[in-house]
Amino acid sequence: MRDPLKFWNKLAKRYAATPVRDEAAYREKLRRTRKYLSADSHLLEAGCGTGSTALAHAPHVSHVEATDFSPNMIEIAERKRAAAGIVNVAFRTAWWDELSGEYDAVLALNLFHVLPHPDAAVAHLASLVKPGGVLVTSTTCVADNSVIARKLAPVFAMIGVFPPISVFGRDTYLGWLEAAGLEPVESWHPGRMAAWFDIARRPGAA
Ligand SMILES: C[S@@+](CC[C@H](N)C(=O)[O-])C[C@H]1O[C@@H](n2cnc3c(N)ncnc32)[C@H](O)[C@@H]1O
Repeated sequence: MRDPLKFWNKLAKRYAATPVRDEAAYREKLRRTRKYLSADSHLLEAGCGTGSTALAHAPHVSHVEATDFSPNMIEIAERKRAAAGIVNVAFRTAWWDELSGEYDAVLALNLFHVLPHPDAAVAHLASLVKPGGVLVTSTTCVADNSVIARKLAPVFAMIGVFPPISVFGRDTYLGWLEAAGLEPVESWHPGRMAAWFDIARRPGAA
């Protein structure tokens, strides 16, 4: 895959039209996340895609800043926000390493495994979590999947069917969270080939 931005921009329309693969698991992730949100929470989402999750959490928080490096994804997200009349979500185009600030919750859902430097991205996004706040992630640990999945991922990426996938295992991923100063509070694996859902907290007073 030559250019990840080109890949995601091209995919945006189709991504918006594709139903969530496992609706029950998606609902469960929203429910688990909400336990850590309150009416005065400030939430940041990196790699928000076409914005469904940011819009779903909006009624439960004070403000959501939802970002993605793909202008096409953000354009669709913004259209959905306007149509729903939701006023406390701001969608904007940004690469993960351009993000700054301090948040009660930072979301990175299905993001780290599509980045070339997932360890740096974990460290950076974790640094934006306030003491007492949480990093909420959904991450595919491809190194733990079957050999076939591991071998096919780069082939699909080369022909442009998949984005390039970074290959790392669960232990490595948990090590990055720990190195970033976060403590795991919840982990959930909805299925053998599914992404791991993790909530990790920065120690300290909320
Ligand atoms: C697999 S999609 C996940 C979208 C959404 N979070 C979800 O769970 O449906 C990955 C998203 O990350 C975005 N992305 C990829 N690389 C990025 C980067 N370097 N900075 C910010 N966003 C990025 C893509 O545009 C895409 O919307």
